[in-house]
Amino acid sequence: MIPITRLSVGDAEATAAAEAVRSGWLSSGKRVQEFETMVADYVGARHAVATNSCTTALQLALIAAGVKPGDEVICPSFSFIATANAILYAGAVPVFVDIDPRTYNIDPGLIEAAITPRTTAIMPVSQIGLAADIPAIMAIARQHGLKVVEDAAPSLGARVGTVCLGSLSDFTCFSFDPRKILTTGEGGVITTNDDEAAERLRSMRAHSASVSAIARHTSTSAILESYPEIGYNYKLTDIQGAIGVVQMGRIEQIIAERRRLADRFASLLADEQRIQLPYEPPGYFHVYQSYCIRLLGDRTQVEVMERLARQDIAARRIIAIHQEPLYRERTTGRPLPETERATKETLLLPMFVGLSDAEQDEVVLALKRALD
Ligand SMILES: Cc1ncc(COP(=O)(O)O)c(C=O)c1O
Repeated sequence: MIPITRLSVGDAEATAAAEAVRSGWLSSGKRVQEFETMVADYVGARHAVATNSCTTALQLALIAAGVKPGDEVICPSFSFIATANAILYAGAVPVFVDIDPRTYNIDPGLIEAAITPRTTAIMPVSQIGLAADIPAIMAIARQHGLKVVEDAAPSLGARVGTVCLGSLSDFTCFSFDPRKILTTGEGGVITTNDDEAAERLRSMRAHSASVSAIARHTSTSAILESYPEIGYNYKLTDIQGAIGVVQMGRIEQIIAERRRLADRFASLLADEQRIQLPYEPPGYFHVYQSYCIRLLGDRTQVEVMERLARQDIAARRIIAIHQEPLYRERTTGRPLPETERATKETLLLPMFVGLSDAEQDEVVLALKRALD
């Protein structure tokens, strides 16, 4: 079976994790801090605050952005369920806006029509490794006094021009789950240039304690902490931090290999009229967390997925959140034709560091057969 992803972790990660285990400190400590520094430096943000997932990162970032129960947050529906769930966790209401059919990211031209007096934030998703049009979205947000909390779960390293996602908006959240650019098993991070918000985020992820556990542990005097607001236990462990440090050390290689595989897919599939290849707009740098094709021929998505599965090739789709039972009654009724088309017509092919050229050839062959 060629899976949708295969982990690219090895001896270096195992050694780092074992060292963390033997160090006597397993919870969030200096390895997480080192990981955070590496992420912040890499994306060019002043702060990175690690969490136990991107979903919890999004929830905390919304709270730090000032989103309150009953507020509306604009986001795309063509995403993973966690995008909208994080908005519900913050007590707010997701307002879905349609996507650009080529990039699969939220269409900035449709955002203004969805803004109401209750809107307090926009949550664009930088889907499958391609940055959303953050400069355009920031301009709209600033004009309307809104905050931007980016769900960039799949897109660590993606760039707009020469700038990495992570410093372009108020808060950017990335995921380290096993299908993402790099992994710590589970995990997430919020990057921001807002010093005050970063301090609040660090505290909120650890029960909102006024002093961190590691600071108390290393203090030579008695410290009595306090808990000024409701907090959460969303900490990343030092075992995960240690793995993250190793993975961050080779992020450039990881991204270069993903781009090489994407180029190779594009040349192997160049003559295939029954699909549309992924689009990288001029000036954007795609990191290809997924390789997303659109089916143009007669075969349906389910037929192609089944025909691939029978040839031992995995494939996935991206959902339309507003069509899921939990969200059906929560939609505003705004039409989402491009989202509905994309969720039916697109397909994600196996894409991971370690996919050999022979395996990639097999995927292409199987896909051609599945399309016949
Ligand atoms: C677009 C998007 N948002 C949010 C998430 C949630 O990330 P996590 O699993 O780290 O909570 C994911 C992936 O799982 C995702 O693809």
